[in-house]
Amino acid sequence: MYLCTKYPELTTCNYKMKLELENATGFIAPKMIESLQEEVDAAQVALEQGTCPGNDFIGWLHLPSSITTEFIDEIKDAAQTLQENCDAVVIAGIGGSYLGAQAVIAALDDNFSWLKPTNAPRILFAGNNISEDYLSELIDYLRDVRFGIINISKSGTTTETAITFRLLKKLCEEQRGKTIARKAIVAVTDAKKGAARTTADREGYRTFVIPDNVGGRFSVLTPVGLLPIAVAGYDIEALVKGAQDMEKECDSNVPYSENPCAQYAAMRYALYTSGKKIEILVNYQPKLHFMSEWWKQLYGESEGKDGKALFPASVDFSTDLHSMGQWIQDGERTVFETVISVDKPNRSLTVPSDEENLDGLNFLAGRHIDEINHKAEIGTRFAHIDGGVPNIRISIPKLDEYNLGQLIYFFEKGCGISGQLLKVNPFNQPGVEAYKKNMFALLGKPGYEEESQKISARLK
Ligand code: PA5
Repeated sequence: MYLCTKYPELTTCNYKMKLELENATGFIAPKMIESLQEEVDAAQVALEQGTCPGNDFIGWLHLPSSITTEFIDEIKDAAQTLQENCDAVVIAGIGGSYLGAQAVIAALDDNFSWLKPTNAPRILFAGNNISEDYLSELIDYLRDVRFGIINISKSGTTTETAITFRLLKKLCEEQRGKTIARKAIVAVTDAKKGAARTTADREGYRTFVIPDNVGGRFSVLTPVGLLPIAVAGYDIEALVKGAQDMEKECDSNVPYSENPCAQYAAMRYALYTSGKKIEILVNYQPKLHFMSEWWKQLYGESEGKDGKALFPASVDFSTDLHSMGQWIQDGERTVFETVISVDKPNRSLTVPSDEENLDGLNFLAGRHIDEINHKAEIGTRFAHIDGGVPNIRISIPKLDEYNLGQLIYFFEKGCGISGQLLKVNPFNQPGVEAYKKNMFALLGKPGYEEESQKISARLK
């Protein structure tokens, strides 16, 4: 029996993520889910035995259970050095090299943390765009702040991240001198290759390795995610424990009908083959906004290949019920929703009573804000189902490290299985290269002369 470090009174029995598919089954042919068992089982076996496409990138599959106490201690030690030496830490990375960390930190942070003093350094994200305004404004802010950098890039050569790191390294060294900069800069990159590795070795930065067999979007439980999350002051042991427990719950030995990842993959595949084209990840907590961004990358970059796959979209409810809600209720019937619902808030607030009741809200007096939010969720679910939108529901007991760890592994494993059902290689991203080739040709990067001529002709 597992006892979570933060909540010793809670065991896995009453501290569990739950997947509910009932509100989606009405939309697909009866027995469709059962009939997919053979394919889903085969997908699990292919992942386990490493016979699936992209089999050199399945290191994430049993990653949680391979994480040791020594490894966690090493991450915590590096995090402590950054905490002691910095009031802000910039996470320089793009795609899988930052989205997981941002998703977890945003889900755990106070919604207004940027306005309040914190014990841990302020975590900032950069290296994920090429906006001159963004970078200039960041530099303006950092000029008077004791800051550090975690430079994250598996390839070590990604343009967005490399430009940002060049700018920030210079600023950090000018501001704090090379000796302190060495303490304030950490690289998370390949063991041997890439410019990030060369620079780190040359400058003597502390480094962490991204395993060869773990792709960017599956890397949140490596130092890519764990180090920034630890620097932000969160409990990475509980996060990993959640993922470990979900790894067991979704193991290929768990029967199909009881295996949440297998059931989720089968359901979204059944909906896709029955004509749905868009899966919308829904939350009712603003803190989960970036979890959706991480999820969109995971599924979009893994599955969108060979002219196939659901388009992963997301909305934040109830906010977006007042914008996208109309489309979902009434637009083209090609969507289904996967709702992440949080059972209990971490804080307590009720609607006050008002003698005059000018706003007519006294019927809500004394009731918790979260109760109203849940009623909005239930009302929306029924409305959308009535409007022809299948609903999958994933509920977690509360927003904390343990449950986020569960969610992360659940979606990763679901994606691994789902990609096999679609018959794509979920672990590569050849389509991402197309824009890079054109951009480098346009910028005159050495080695792109031929493409440069072709693209220049198109500009005439
Ligand atoms: O999932 C992926 O592999 C990508 O999104 C990468 O994480 C992203 O392109 C960044 O690559 P790198 O870490 O090599 O800078």
